[in-house]
Amino acid sequence: MAKPTPTFICQNCGSSYGRWQGKCDGCGEWNTISEETNSLAPTGPGRAARKGRPFALSPLAGAEGQEAPRLSSGIAELDRVTGGGFVRGSVLLVGGDPGIGKSTLLVQAAASLAKAGQRVVYISGEEAVAQVRLRAERLGLASAPVELAAETSVEDIVATLSEGKLPRLIVIDSIQTMWTDTVESAPGTVTQVRSAAQVLIRFAKKTGAAVILVGHVTKDGQIAGPRVVEHMVDAVLSFEGEGAHHFRILRAVKNRFGPTDEIGVFEMTGEGLREVANPSELFLSERHRGAPGNAVFAGIEGTRPVLVEMQALVAPSSLGTPRRSVVGWDSSRLSMVLAVLEAHCGVRLGGHDVYLNVAGGMRIVEPAADLAAAAALVSSLVNAALPPDAVYFGEVSLSGIVRPVAQASARLKEAQKLGFARAVIPDSAKTDAKDSGLAITAISGLQALVAEIAALGSEQNRPAAKARRQDG
Ligand code: TYD
Ligand code: MG
Repeated sequence: MAKPTPTFICQNCGSSYGRWQGKCDGCGEWNTISEETNSLAPTGPGRAARKGRPFALSPLAGAEGQEAPRLSSGIAELDRVTGGGFVRGSVLLVGGDPGIGKSTLLVQAAASLAKAGQRVVYISGEEAVAQVRLRAERLGLASAPVELAAETSVEDIVATLSEGKLPRLIVIDSIQTMWTDTVESAPGTVTQVRSAAQVLIRFAKKTGAAVILVGHVTKDGQIAGPRVVEHMVDAVLSFEGEGAHHFRILRAVKNRFGPTDEIGVFEMTGEGLREVANPSELFLSERHRGAPGNAVFAGIEGTRPVLVEMQALVAPSSLGTPRRSVVGWDSSRLSMVLAVLEAHCGVRLGGHDVYLNVAGGMRIVEPAADLAAAAALVSSLVNAALPPDAVYFGEVSLSGIVRPVAQASARLKEAQKLGFARAVIPDSAKTDAKDSGLAITAISGLQALVAEIAALGSEQNRPAAKARRQDG
């Protein structure tokens, strides 16, 4: 057998090198490259080629009378993100920061399925059985017939699970703690994680059990170690949230069997994760009505409208290069909106620090938020509160035109349901808004929005109005 050649593999992105180097060219990280011995099955002239074995082919059309291909978790917000439940024989990777609640979510899902009569196995490589049990007790789920084990060898796991009745769901918490005999690298290295995942994926495909892998996330939000595992699995969900908030958002990053734009919203309580069926109410619950710099954005997440507050602070800067800081939104999108405000609306922001925050730990990806962001920014700059009963949506183009966005009527309906009375929307969405029951301000250019908020500003900041506000 040939001597195994050492390879150097980046533990962050999986790029491989012939020799060690300090910085990975693949992902730009430092000190992430380490040596791994690659001792996969030897090939070459010394080894007889394996003779192919014929296998059976199946028709594309499913046979009648088969078991339902999806397994509902009993947690509606989780099912929404997976696209209707776990798919038989599929592998799902759930990533998220430590302590965000991945284990809690999966214990809850496992218990719910087990109570529905399915065989569910929860394997923890991080916690002892007693710890998992303690958590289940705290969640009030101690009576659920989930089978537990604290194990890290995938060969042992597969051997154990192959005996007896096949489990319908297997939770592996976490993939970074798993290892396989077939490779020599230490547990947690890219090669180990990848090989262990491969064994589990093969098991899922062969038996039809659904497998959920928990994956840790590095500081920049990627599932630690191998991006390669993301490519190997059928779906990747990311569990997000701000430490200071109780809200947790489950988002599909990749999904071979469902949509990738749906979100599931949860609240972390003393008794575990609680589903939030109406996220808008939650995100708007801590609003500061009547404060300058706040605008409510009527957004869409997947099929569901979600209202969130965008908060801006524009303050004179003492720095040579003013600060631009954004949480929950795309910073290049912020730069674009600022540039359009400068170039087409005469709003001078060059000497100001700009902070933009999406309330409640929500992260917005839609360009439809441009108009709400612009409204919040201008409102803060001119120190004028926007009407507290107004919502905003619309995409802003580089020329300052406010462009239409999808699903205008669904956005308006949600706003109306939550007690809003007016909406500022793109001119072209006017027809959708006819029966919304809201007072509509349809604008075609960003200039119109700026002029309106500036007028509010001069009214609210007149000495008489100021005195009245201070008295009241
Ligand atoms: P956990 O599920 O262990 O996170 P992960 O597996 O993603 O690392 O969640 C741990 C956090 O959740 C911990 O900080 C405590 C909190 N928590 C609650 O607030 N309520 C609960 O009922 C439980 C079980 C945990
Ligand atoms: Mg955990």
